Order: sequence, then C-alpha cells, then structure tokens
Amino acid sequence: MSINNNYSSRYTNDKVNAVYPVEFVVRAFLGTYPGLHMSRDHYVDQRILDLGYGDGRNMPLLNNLGMKIHGVEIAEDINGHVRKRMKALGIRADLKVGTNAHIPYKDNYFQYLLACHACYYVEPGDHFSDNLAEMTRVLEPGGYLIASLPMTGSYILKNAKSLSDGHYEITSDPYGLRNGTVFRVFRSKQEIQKIFSNDFSDFNIGYCNDMFWGIHQKVWTLVCRKKIDHTTLRKRN
Ligand SMILES: C[S@@+](CC[C@H](N)C(=O)[O-])C[C@H]1O[C@@H](n2cnc3c(N)ncnc32)[C@H](O)[C@@H]1O
Repeated sequence: MSINNNYSSRYTNDKVNAVYPVEFVVRAFLGTYPGLHMSRDHYVDQRILDLGYGDGRNMPLLNNLGMKIHGVEIAEDINGHVRKRMKALGIRADLKVGTNAHIPYKDNYFQYLLACHACYYVEPGDHFSDNLAEMTRVLEPGGYLIASLPMTGSYILKNAKSLSDGHYEITSDPYGLRNGTVFRVFRSKQEIQKIFSNDFSDFNIGYCNDMFWGIHQKVWTLVCRKKIDHTTLRKRN
C-alpha cells in the first residue's frame, strides 16, 4: 500500500469528529517564551495554510484564533473526510489536494504556514529544497512558518536508510504507515538555520524530546519568518 492509501484509510476509519491540537502548536501560537517572537495579537482574519493537516486536529485551534484556514493533503479522500468533520464542528476550511513540493495556491498568499509533522516528507524525485522553495513561494514576505522537523534519534528513524543531504528512507515505522517514504532529517539548530536562511530569518528553534510508552519522539520546533526583502523567483543554490 502507498503512503496515500495508508494515511487515507487511517483517517477515514476515524468516526469521531472531536480532534485535539498538538502541544507544540498550542505553545507556538499562544505561549509566551523568551526565545519565541511571534505576536499573539494579529491572528484574526489572517490566511493560514495547514500543510499536511492530517485529521485536521490543529484546525479548531486555528479557528478559535480567528484565522482563515486553508489545508493541503495528499489525497482527496482525506480532504472529503476532514471537510465533513469541519462542517460538523462549524469550521470553515478550504481543503485542496497537493504536496509539500506542489502547493496549489498563488505566490505570497499566506500570512502563516503551519507544517506540523509534515513538511519533511519528500516525494520520489523531489529534494527537500523543492519543499522549501514551495513553502517560501506561497508565504508572503514577513509571513510566519511554524513547523516541526525530525531530529536524529527519533523513533521513526530506527533502521532508516541514509540517502544524500540528510534524506532518509523510513524502513521500520511501528505504525506501518511510512515505510519507503523519504524524510529530511536535521542534526542541529545550526543545520536548520543554514538550510532555511536563504529564505527565512528571525529563527526561533526549540525541540521536543518525548517518551510516550515506547515511542521516543524527537522533533525540532521551528518558528521563523520569510525574509521581508525576499524575491520569490530567487535562484536557489
Ligand atoms: C504525521 S502526519 C501529521 C498530520 C497533521 N499535521 C498532524 O499534526 O496531525 C503527516 C501528514 O503528512 C501528509 N503527507 C505525507 N506526504 C506528504 C507530502 N509529500 N506533502 C504533504 N503532506 C504529506 C500525510 O498525509 C499526513 O497527514
């Protein structure tokens, strides 16, 4: 089975409409931290893309903040299922099919882009730089990227096959969803800044190191802004 089928059947088998946001997302949008610079007063009516939104669990939070929600997922089955869920919850969300490297929105459209456990999935034939270029393209200059990124040592990387440039093929997913998929993994804050700093500035980087009953999840948490003077058509190196 492909990753599309795996995720579609996982989400569409879930019959309950209630969903609950991811902790780092709540903290990024609502928390106050000395190392986080994100204004909490400007969310209302701002366009946000929830890229790889999954079961839509972060959307009720974004809706409570007054944001205009757009979402991209890899299969129309997922969109259809989550559209119904959001309708039942009274939440408006524009949901489209796409991928990290092919986001079906125009340049500079979003003020915010949330990629919770999602932007590092690299499709066959793509490179993480394609994902990064596409996320950059759809964010307006000064727009915020809020993302998690896999950290070396996370459970999902057990027995993963190392490819080039920090890309890894997943081989031992305990949930059986992502085997064969390629992830971009980051070893350090410095590496994240190096890769993102052509297009982004104002880096706020933290991490979560959680042991949930046999699942040792290690992720970087990143909040940064698209450079104000960014030209979307800048040639990538
Ligand atoms: C670990 S789940 C996270 C879902 C959701 N953001 C959340 O936090 O619950 C990863 C999601 O990325 C999506 N995905 C997989 N490959 C993708 C790609 N190439 N582009 C965009 N999304 C992708 C999957 O369908 C899945 O919903």
